[in-house]
Amino acid sequence: MDQLRLYWKNATADAVGSEHGVSEQELNDIAPRIAQLHERLTAERKTGNKRYRDLPYDGDMVKAVMAEVKHFSKTCEILVVLGIGGSALGNIAVQNALNSYTYNLSKKRKGPLLFVLDNVDPDQIKSVVEFITPRLKKTIINVISKSGETAETASQFILFRDLLKKKIGKKYANHILATTDPKGGTLREICKAEGYRTLEVPDGVGGRFSVLSAVGLFSAAMCGIKIDKLLAGAAQMDKALQSGDVRKNAAALIAAIHFILDQKGKKMAVMMPYANSLYSLGDWYRQLWAESLGKKDGLNKKDVYAGQTPIKALGTTDQHSQVQLYREGPNDKVITFVEVENFATKLAIPKSMKHVETLRYLAGSDFQTLMNAEKLGTEYALLESKRPTLTVTFPKISPGTVGQFIYLYECAVSFMGGLYDINTYDQPAVQLGKDATYALMGKAGFDELKTKINAVAKRDEKFLV
Ligand code: PA5
Repeated sequence: MDQLRLYWKNATADAVGSEHGVSEQELNDIAPRIAQLHERLTAERKTGNKRYRDLPYDGDMVKAVMAEVKHFSKTCEILVVLGIGGSALGNIAVQNALNSYTYNLSKKRKGPLLFVLDNVDPDQIKSVVEFITPRLKKTIINVISKSGETAETASQFILFRDLLKKKIGKKYANHILATTDPKGGTLREICKAEGYRTLEVPDGVGGRFSVLSAVGLFSAAMCGIKIDKLLAGAAQMDKALQSGDVRKNAAALIAAIHFILDQKGKKMAVMMPYANSLYSLGDWYRQLWAESLGKKDGLNKKDVYAGQTPIKALGTTDQHSQVQLYREGPNDKVITFVEVENFATKLAIPKSMKHVETLRYLAGSDFQTLMNAEKLGTEYALLESKRPTLTVTFPKISPGTVGQFIYLYECAVSFMGGLYDINTYDQPAVQLGKDATYALMGKAGFDELKTKINAVAKRDEKFLV
């Protein structure tokens, strides 16, 4: 299988200067901490609790997912996924990476139409409801929620369940697949009461680390993506990350470089794929980096305020939007390019404008060459401005390489959290916003909070323009 590669010379002090790059000495200094973390992460795997790192080897999970795929694909022509955050971003990323841009329009597609609804925008929801209503007999709703209580997913679920009940009648439950906690939680209770088919969000796997579980695999397999290859890619990356030597372990190296550069004021981490199909992986990465690393409390002390702001950008599009800032604005970013060595498509640029002197250089070339020249050109331009960059190279985009990328960044975030000495796997600051929603929507037990929020809601005319 093709192997992803990481190129990091342009993030070194030799390339961009000691103020902006990582020196040999700094890597040597961090190496013992990385080796310790590597030992800790390896030991955690032996505790018996399932973690994201075990997913590539979970044959039972794959069997369970494929059984549901077999069951539903007989009738399913439209698959609607309801979820948010870790229960949706991975599905979108895998689908966009591995199925074509026009998948939903294509007659040749190898699965149902796919809609992933990860918001509560009434206009968007209505458009999907209107589309599926005459086609409900062929529609499956995959509701994904580990807790089963997330307001966004729950509200959508109530609406789609109602629609199914009204239009399909008694057999409405046959159109629902719930992916949720194996044992407890509100959704699990509803599943038991109403008899839905279910898949599990594994116990020790948090939402943003769950794309390689049933959470992300069901919709992928339904849409014709080879999930065995996705997992084989993750397993291959796992094998490539066995070393505790920071220079030989790409995940550890990504973390070490970001951590060292964070200490030098690089508070932003840009992920810039030069491939539209990989752009949604940027969204997935953004959640992984932000929610895992943005922490106020350290494990051993308070108020560490850890984290880098992850930014997604798209090459070449954002060369004409962001690169001016990246080159001449504050030198506070580390930029990761993602490039594709071989696109599936060889698309020539016709020679028909050869007679126009200013366009002659394009005649007879091809889009892949142009794309990769633009990436290299931007890498060079940023280097000229002493901006540190990394490049992750996909030899080609395939289930295997996408699986590798996902696993690589999940492990990188684990190392990064270890370097910050924070809890990488919780998200305590998300709760207040969730509680505020409960309070404003009238959930019992949140009255006091509602009073506090209402004080903020009252608009002071002095500040209203
Ligand atoms: O990464 C996470 O834990 C979150 O993004 C969750 O996935 C998100 O809040 C949705 O939670 P749930 O699956 O419980 O509905």
